Amino acid sequence: MSQLHIINHPMVQHKLSIMRNKETGSKDFRQLLKEISLLMGYEVTRDIPLDPIEIETPICKMTARQVSGRKLAIVPILRAGLGMVDGLLELVPVARVGHIGLYRNEETHEPVVYYSKLPEDINTRMVIVTDPMLATGGSASDALTMLKKKGCTNIRLMCLVGVPEGIERVQREHPDIDIYLAAVDDHLNENAYIVPGLGDAGDRIFGTK
Ligand code: PRP
Ligand code: URA
Repeated sequence: MSQLHIINHPMVQHKLSIMRNKETGSKDFRQLLKEISLLMGYEVTRDIPLDPIEIETPICKMTARQVSGRKLAIVPILRAGLGMVDGLLELVPVARVGHIGLYRNEETHEPVVYYSKLPEDINTRMVIVTDPMLATGGSASDALTMLKKKGCTNIRLMCLVGVPEGIERVQREHPDIDIYLAAVDDHLNENAYIVPGLGDAGDRIFGTK
């Protein structure tokens, strides 16, 4: 059974509060999302494998440990998931990046796929799927299904704000996937927006409204 990880670190919570404020503009919103992603990435990669490496300190030789970084792939759900990539890349610079494009149909709120470009060897990598908002869970669930069809077996989902509806849907449809969130909000409104949430993440990152 998958686990739900809530990242309660005070720095994450502080930055998220600034992002939620409607007075925060795109430049700061983007910067804060990047910073939070790096901090959350620290937890998401907690069990990443380490390889032994022979090195020499100024004192003596030793067997040290290094991250098997080439084994990681980051897959943002476009558009808003893009805002979480740079923070993760600062943590693991050699990670590969794939892209899955999904948008929600405004009436049905169901996701529509419009783009997919993934590393060829994605099935051999640990995959972190990023999307700031876990609302109905439809987008995340479809992205996870697409990755599983490509043979991925080690996937985790990193979002910023979720609601019980979305969490339950992903857990029901993908009981093997761990979910990482900075906050679980109250509910969805009639337009399937998270309440209190932070508004439309894509629009706030890219300044499109
Ligand atoms: C937003 C958000 C998620 C999705 C979450 O994307 O970035 O991908 O909605 O909603 P769900 O859990 O109900 O599927 P949107 O469809 O607005 O596209 P955009 O990122 O291109 O703005
Ligand atoms: N997508 C967003 O960007 N925000 C929400 O609150 C829900 C879906």
